[in-house]
Amino acid sequence: MRHPSRIKIVEVGPRDGLQNEAKPVSVEIKVGLIDRLTETGLAAIESGSFVSPKWVPQMAATAEVMAAIKRRPGVSYPVLTPNLQGLEAALAARAEEVAVFAAASETFSQKNINCSIAESLERFAPLAARARAEGLRVRGYVSCVLGCPYEGPIAPAAVAEVAGRLAAMGCYEISLGDTVGVGTPARAQAMIDAVAARLPVEMLAAHFHDTYGQALANLLAVMERGIMVMDSSVAGLGGCPYAKGAAGNVASEDLVYMLNGMGIHTGVDLDKLIAAGKFICSALDRATGSKVARARG
Ligand code: HMG
Ligand code: MG
Repeated sequence: MRHPSRIKIVEVGPRDGLQNEAKPVSVEIKVGLIDRLTETGLAAIESGSFVSPKWVPQMAATAEVMAAIKRRPGVSYPVLTPNLQGLEAALAARAEEVAVFAAASETFSQKNINCSIAESLERFAPLAARARAEGLRVRGYVSCVLGCPYEGPIAPAAVAEVAGRLAAMGCYEISLGDTVGVGTPARAQAMIDAVAARLPVEMLAAHFHDTYGQALANLLAVMERGIMVMDSSVAGLGGCPYAKGAAGNVASEDLVYMLNGMGIHTGVDLDKLIAAGKFICSALDRATGSKVARARG
């Protein structure tokens, strides 16, 4: 099988993972997690969201978190920004990278950000322009790329259209989210083929939730199509408050274990990653979602 010699992992646990926790998580624990993740050698750690605290109360303290983490030069700590208000907060927090998040499903767009896909893109264009003028990198997400919790199957062409629009407004990378984790390998490849017909595959990232246990298989399948950036979550934390029943992202530990076994470089220290997962699981008083972490005890 053809595969790249290195994969960039974008750790999303502190954002995608913790946004979905029922119990509030203190700033101290969030900072403890992010600082431990920095020590693993990860190049990108999504650290929070500047969204409405009424919509996602778990991310309300992102400014405090950003002020307290020990930032390592060369590591990026992106934050989600749904609108200009979020961008202002991200700028005040000295974020160097922000992410806008659109969807390939109209209903999910309404439920998640309270506007249509077209309205969201109109909202993101000035945000991206302003962010880039301030010297920030802008990442774009497309949710529901392999299915929607409200609409069911989503056409690959709809994903390609939204991805193309995000790239046109200056997003340097487009992360393709299987929000509900319903995809299987052949469908994941077909979706990537549709998007890669429009954008260079080097611009694309895979963000797969593991609800049906397919995330690792889907990542391997899209790696065959040239995907070299993968989002994952330590201890398999995660979900989306507006996609009920969705499980966490593929566990970072399991992804690193697989890539190590294939001789693919990630720069991430697996033992330190397992330790970071243990830290957050004990703080949340829950079992890890990583099989590798469980196997290592
Ligand atoms: P809205 O109610 O339409 O917004 O929400 P609005 O502009 O009418 O403002 C209403 C109130 O929210 C106002 O406050 C604003 O100040 C406040 P009030 O006057 O009522 O006191 N507000 C804000 N506060 C702080 N920061 C802001 C902000 N914006 C408005 N940036 C909005 C629209 C987009 C704000 C809302 O729907 C929202 O915050 N949604 C976020 C939902 C979210 O974070 N979902 C999870 C992340 S996406 C995800 O998990 C998927 C992903 O992982 C990929 C995948 O898996 O597919 C990325
Ligand atoms: Mg997600």
